[in-house]
Amino acid sequence: MKNIVLFASGSGSNVENIVRYFQDNSKINISAVLSNKKDAKVLDRCNNLKINALYFNRNAFYATECVLDILKTFDPDLIVLAGFLWKIPENLIAAFPDKIVNIHPALLPKYGGKGMYGNNVHEAVRANNETETGITIHYVNENYDEGAVIRQVKTSVSADDTPESIARKVHELEYEYFPKVIAQLLEVE
Ligand code: GRF
Repeated sequence: MKNIVLFASGSGSNVENIVRYFQDNSKINISAVLSNKKDAKVLDRCNNLKINALYFNRNAFYATECVLDILKTFDPDLIVLAGFLWKIPENLIAAFPDKIVNIHPALLPKYGGKGMYGNNVHEAVRANNETETGITIHYVNENYDEGAVIRQVKTSVSADDTPESIARKVHELEYEYFPKVIAQLLEVE
């Protein structure tokens, strides 16, 4: 049995997609979802999905070992950031080398780094008249969006795409590929 812990800050549609993808897989256990936002929609989703959900605040995350201690109790094989907006502290990166992965809604190294999240990314892609964008699934290191790339998938952007339509295309790629890449990393497919 492989244990996955997810981190999310917002809506959690990727979390829900991942949970549903693995729900009939006897080799995968979703141990918990951890969130830094008390009122995040992802926590409602976890409630409906009957998934263990935990909230932590900034102080607990950056100034204590509390999140590390909680993670250790789950003995995760993979920690998955699915729309998690805070930088991961050193103590967690050191404790789980090559076990933390993130999804970014663009083709890194383009449109990465601080402030490049959610619609900011898709608006920048539109403003620069890009002809393609996509997703990047990558390992997490101490810098935003800079760890080794595991998988990138592209989609085209046409002149009449809006930031909203780009976001929809990118989300579709996320839903299709993120669970599959997780399964490959854990060697359960
Ligand atoms: C996704 O686009 C993901 O790539 C990014 O944050 C967004 C999260 O969306 N890191 P959701 O909360 O899973 O709906």
